[in-house]
Amino acid sequence: MGEPQVSRLGAGWTSSEWIIPASPTTPLAVPRPVIATLGLVNNHDYSTIPIDATAAAALAADGLRFELVDNSENGNFPVWLQAVTRGFFGERMSPEALAARQKTAHLRRNSGVYDNTAADAAVPVGTAASWPSDLTIPGHSTIPAWAISAITVSPTHRRRGIARAMLDAELRTARTLGYPIAMLTVSESTIYSRWGFAPSAMAADWSIKTARAEWIGPRASGRVHAVEAEHLRTGGLELVDRVRLATPGQISFSGVLWERILGLGVGSESSAKKLRFLRYDDASGEMRGFAVYSIREEEPPAQAILELSYLVTATDDAYAGLWRHLLAMDLIGEIRASDRSIDEPLRWQIADYRSAFKSLERDHLWTRILDVPAALTARRYHAPGHLVFDVRDELGFAAGRFLLTISSDGTAVVGTLTGDIPDDADAVALTVNELSAIYLGGVSPVLLTRAGRIEELTPGAAAVVELCFRSSTTPWLSIWF
Ligand SMILES: CC(C)(COP(=O)(O)OP(=O)(O)OC[C@H]1O[C@@H](n2cnc3c(N)ncnc32)[C@H](O)[C@@H]1OP(=O)(O)O)[C@@H](O)C(=O)NCCC(=O)NCCS
Repeated sequence: MGEPQVSRLGAGWTSSEWIIPASPTTPLAVPRPVIATLGLVNNHDYSTIPIDATAAAALAADGLRFELVDNSENGNFPVWLQAVTRGFFGERMSPEALAARQKTAHLRRNSGVYDNTAADAAVPVGTAASWPSDLTIPGHSTIPAWAISAITVSPTHRRRGIARAMLDAELRTARTLGYPIAMLTVSESTIYSRWGFAPSAMAADWSIKTARAEWIGPRASGRVHAVEAEHLRTGGLELVDRVRLATPGQISFSGVLWERILGLGVGSESSAKKLRFLRYDDASGEMRGFAVYSIREEEPPAQAILELSYLVTATDDAYAGLWRHLLAMDLIGEIRASDRSIDEPLRWQIADYRSAFKSLERDHLWTRILDVPAALTARRYHAPGHLVFDVRDELGFAAGRFLLTISSDGTAVVGTLTGDIPDDADAVALTVNELSAIYLGGVSPVLLTRAGRIEELTPGAAAVVELCFRSSTTPWLSIWF
């Protein structure tokens, strides 16, 4: 079976416009005039977008400086990166690892908060990073999203509003640049709701007891090869980049995030030694998937544990081929697969349903809509409808009453509604958090209504919103960023 045909949508925008698909075959150009006023020279030059003046003023009132990091060769990027690593309780990075990261530093907009009165004033007491990335949304489409990461505040400066200032700044910058949505993955799920973020794609760790997991799924037509990481460096990334368009919640990535999967980053040699790689080729010899794993040996007589850190497949045939191979490996008693989808076909491909279970299910991708009309018109819908959303947003970006009209082909138009709710519309009231949660089609509006998070303004509206918004592919993000 060939790969599903998906379009590369939303990926080809330039400094003067970006492309949101009106349908998989008709791209719609949405002007981004603000870019020019911010002096953005080309569509890779994000690192020089000026610091948000409001946040800088708020921090200055507390004696702190908020500045862009100098990503150039002799700039302060290495000191900033060491501070990020410390913030996440990591080890100090080696000079070699810092030098390697320096090469791609310019691809992110890195910023720091500095305290002139600190013992080492060159070390930032707060850090943030952001960059544009394409987020897959229902309908085999993507939307340009503002990815935020590296949010750390030194314990010496905690709880005095530094994270608040940096997050406010990121959202204002993203909105000013015209990004309709911001996104992040979080270390704690208690922090980001106050900025309008909500989990929209979940993830799970799976455990499979191999002795009980007799394969009853399809017999794959291709072949599994044991390979080295270098064999996947280019072709593997190309595959990941194609496959992401089939699953809402996946994002475009490369560079350090890709090298981390394969263990190719400078400084990760010792953990990378354990990694093993499998490649799946279809009957014609074309690569259709790969898996990355390591083996953890237990004291005999226990059997070893196979830790599956990444598995990506372009076809159901490749999925079956790789999983069947993994389950059949000798001396392995258990497979632990991390950061997988909460809905794995595997569960229906083994004889004992209970031999595969989720050891952890959690929030993973958090999204935050900044521009309701742009976000809602970008995706496709499951059913036609007239929906009204009364959106509350404390930060103001997404607040308003919006009418979403979905055609029978799944495309939609959105307008601001100044008057009453039309008689034929199904209406709900919610905050930007709930709208962001349901956006990818994986979080149930009916559930959120039962939880008291969505209010029905017309009877039965939540069920209609659910029917329209649902995604036939469960949203999932396969990486941390
Ligand atoms: C989480 C962290 C960034 C907070 O920084 P901070 O400067 O102390 O936060 P602020 O003082 O700006 O607080 C902003 C708001 O977040 C809340 N908050 C801060 N840390 C929180 C936490 N760990 N859990 C829940 N709420 C938190 C504050 O109470 C405050 O709420 P309010 O504005 O509604 O009153 C910082 O503690 C840190 O660096 N932790 C380790 C790294 C980390 O977890 N980073 C997050 C990566 S996803």
